[in-house]
Amino acid sequence: PLVTTKEMFRKAYDGGYAIGAFNVNNMEIVQGITEAAREVRAPMILQVSKGARAYANHTYLVKLVEAAVIECPEIPIALHLDHGPDFETCKSCIDGGFTSVMIDASSKPFAENIEITRKVVEYAHDHGVVVEAELGALAGIEDDVQVSAEESHYTHPEEVEEFVSKTGCDSLAIAIGTSHGAYKFTADQCTRNEKGELVPPPLRFDILDEVSKRLPGFPIVLHGSSSVPQEYVKMINENGGKMPDAVGIPEEQLRQAARLAVCKINIDSDLRLAMTGTIRQFFAEHPDKFDPREYLKPARANIKEMVKHKLIHVLGCDGK
Ligand code: G3H
Ligand code: 13P
Ligand code: ZN
Ligand code: NA
Repeated sequence: PLVTTKEMFRKAYDGGYAIGAFNVNNMEIVQGITEAAREVRAPMILQVSKGARAYANHTYLVKLVEAAVIECPEIPIALHLDHGPDFETCKSCIDGGFTSVMIDASSKPFAENIEITRKVVEYAHDHGVVVEAELGALAGIEDDVQVSAEESHYTHPEEVEEFVSKTGCDSLAIAIGTSHGAYKFTADQCTRNEKGELVPPPLRFDILDEVSKRLPGFPIVLHGSSSVPQEYVKMINENGGKMPDAVGIPEEQLRQAARLAVCKINIDSDLRLAMTGTIRQFFAEHPDKFDPREYLKPARANIKEMVKHKLIHVLGCDGK
């Protein structure tokens, strides 16, 4: 059966690694991720956003993830609501088979964030479901909400103890410089390396440090943690796409965060890039083909390879 993230996070915290939380929207994405996790024997979180539920329908997604559990009984799998916007959405997922939900009231004032989060925690815990909450505001786009660089702000470490003790949440997403989407930083926020590639500003490990001192043993979550592999940006741009200056979080920094209190690392954009790059290239090379299985098969295979790489080299959760 699906599991919660409790045990996964405890082991990850103690073991100095992180669990991958991958967004799923269709069967090929679920299969690509699951095959990777199975091959390297990694526990994993499959997560579903409000937009994913609107696209694919709650029941289809739950059943796809349940199918992954049946096909792959040897690894622990959690089903998580990503960026739950309100109590009702969280309740619907708790009632509908999820083992973990995020309530994201991070754009609300502190007291209101506490109040909404606590309400979700009460309902979730009564039903054996765990809750992720968020403090701080990441830049970037999620669903239809676009947070500009100016509106974004880092987590204030002095708020975390009060927030966690008053809400009873099970894990906490913090803002230390990651950002949603494939354009995480503007060119003027970056420097350039010898190859002319953008080098983003480093994550604020000092804030992570301060937060984990104040919350010893408590699992921290990083959103917006795609690395935006330049091989896929190139594949997209060379096959009719146009994604200039797409840039992500360097893998070594995520690896470092995974060694520390970070127990869950969210990845979505990189899956989209792998899928889109592969399909664009396939279409360019085979203009005569029109069977979706023919282009979805290599897309799924490349998602699998990318996820395997992340599980081993970025998250460090293989064999756990
Ligand atoms: O944080 C946002 C995730 O990448 C989900 O994106 O809302 O477009 O499904 P979405
Ligand atoms: P990316 O856009 O960096 O993949 O982040 C995904 C995420 O945070 C999902 O909640
Ligand atoms: Zn997110
Ligand atoms: Na960790």
